[in-house]
Amino acid sequence: MLSARRCLAVVLAAGEGTRMRSAKPKVLHEVAGRSMVAHVVAAVQAAGAERIALVVGPGRDDVAGVARKLAPDVDVYEQTERLGTAHAVLAARKALEQGFDDVLIAFADTPLIRPETFASLRAALADGAAVAALGFHAADPQGYGRLLLAPDGALTAIREHKDATEAERATRLCNAGLMALAGAHALALLDAIGNDNAQKEYYLTDAVAGARAMGLKALHRTAPEDEVQGVNDRVQLAAAEAVAQHRLRDSAMRAGATLIAPETVHFSADTKLGRDVTVEPNVVFGPGVEVADGVVIRAFSHLDGARVDGGATIGPFARLRPGAKLEADAHIGNFVEIKASTVGMGAKVNHLAYIGDASIGARTNVGAGVITCNYDGFGKYRTEIGEGAFIGTNSSLVAPVTIGAGAYIGSGSVITDDVAADALAIGRGRQVQKAGWAAEFRASKKKA
Ligand code: UD1
Ligand code: CA
Repeated sequence: MLSARRCLAVVLAAGEGTRMRSAKPKVLHEVAGRSMVAHVVAAVQAAGAERIALVVGPGRDDVAGVARKLAPDVDVYEQTERLGTAHAVLAARKALEQGFDDVLIAFADTPLIRPETFASLRAALADGAAVAALGFHAADPQGYGRLLLAPDGALTAIREHKDATEAERATRLCNAGLMALAGAHALALLDAIGNDNAQKEYYLTDAVAGARAMGLKALHRTAPEDEVQGVNDRVQLAAAEAVAQHRLRDSAMRAGATLIAPETVHFSADTKLGRDVTVEPNVVFGPGVEVADGVVIRAFSHLDGARVDGGATIGPFARLRPGAKLEADAHIGNFVEIKASTVGMGAKVNHLAYIGDASIGARTNVGAGVITCNYDGFGKYRTEIGEGAFIGTNSSLVAPVTIGAGAYIGSGSVITDDVAADALAIGRGRQVQKAGWAAEFRASKKKA
């Protein structure tokens, strides 16, 4: 039983990432709105790792910080010199000494890896392997290490491309890099690895031949190529994004959401959609969005950090920013932006409005062009609107301001003072009418 085995995951994140041409470390680049290192940490957690050792390059507190958000008790180790993958794993020696049954080794630049795949490597250890390597059938094996198998299927060695013979290069069964080691042998296997190879590096892959030499068993498992693709540049980052989006669309549909044009909908790794949610074309979900059952999201809407309760409708062309909360059956129409605000049950904000730092009571109607003036260049201020109120079109609500339940605001008002419940407030110039003025004006102009 896997769950009874204690599991350590060593996540290697000490990559240089120079081909990203970026000011930030490679593994902090995002796939589906989540950094690559966070994807990998989440995958090893889901595969049952109870301890995570993150190996970072010198001074990479930023990488450690991101991992800690997801796994607060992650142990961070520094690899001071980049001497190869085995050397990187040994940076976490203190963790390896703690006596785990299974040791998973993951690369932080391989963000698409699924927990099930790590679990299959752990299962190979449970079957008695000291080393379980992960292979894939490469469309183009150039550059990858090759898995060399004995006639009985056992793994005999992994040969790096640069060190492989022509005959060895002929196999397309390549090394994904990720691996599992039996905790009881992990340190002995790693300490035995030398650097006598083309790159003068301590290769983790040599653990396989090492295990064989010690009379231990090495096995391999395979995964689809798209799951183990690494990211070294932004072209590969986009390729990984495409795979991640494909998966997220699939699982949203399988969980009961209708995506009319799935290839145009962009998800974040943590997007949550309920059943019978309909998503029209060209909708973007940033991180932290939760949508309950029966919601309709019309075309070209953008949601980020928002919670949407059942039966609400959004868009087309709506924008929900972080802290937006729509209660059940609320309606948000076209060209409406909602930020850090609650829109109450059944309330409507249907056209061309900005609602920021506000709360809108149930069943309140907010007319076209209404703006909450929440910012004076220094601070942000709140607008509170009670239930069943009616905010006339093109009104500016200058925060901080409170509008009582059932109140009416006349169209075109600038509201700077609180409005009592059930009152009418009008804050605009009074209309003046001059009878016949236009006719006289035209006549005088024509004469001249
Ligand atoms: C590695 C495998 C190769 C496999 C390929 C799959 C080894 C020796 N080779 O090669 O068999 O086909 O992945 O993509 O493992 N790292 C460190 N410190 C180091 C060296 C590497 O942290 O000193 C990290 C890197 O950041 C990266 C990972 O280990 O996340 C793999 O290293 P990389 O140099 O990219 O290995 P490859 O040559 O791609
Ligand atoms: Ca690589």
